[in-house]
Amino acid sequence: MLDFVEAFKRPKCGKLVVEHGELYNNLFLPYQDKAIRMLEIGIWNGVSFKIWKEYFLNVALFGIDMSIPDPALLEIGKIFFGDQ
Ligand SMILES: C[S@@+](CC[C@H](N)C(=O)[O-])C[C@H]1O[C@@H](n2cnc3c(N)ncnc32)[C@H](O)[C@@H]1O
Repeated sequence: MLDFVEAFKRPKCGKLVVEHGELYNNLFLPYQDKAIRMLEIGIWNGVSFKIWKEYFLNVALFGIDMSIPDPALLEIGKIFFGDQ
């Protein structure tokens, strides 16, 4: 299974790991193989959106952003356009 800290060491994701990696790892690990639904508010170019899909093995992924998302992300999850 994908390690959370390793996943977010990828380019453009370093900020999360430097400050909060182990904290998020401890919080998310129990859910990694569970059937969950997840909403990311502010998906930008989808870097983290793609990682959620890879990290959580059985996730129904939703995202919302006020900028128009990359249509390719629609293959990963359901995306809403709007102001949170
Ligand atoms: C720093 S980027 C998100 C990065 C992404 N979460 C990641 O880790 O790869 C912030 C995003 O939030 C969106 N955003 C900011 N304010 C928002 C709002 N009020 N409603 C919806 N999206 C918003 C911006 O359009 C931008 O795409």
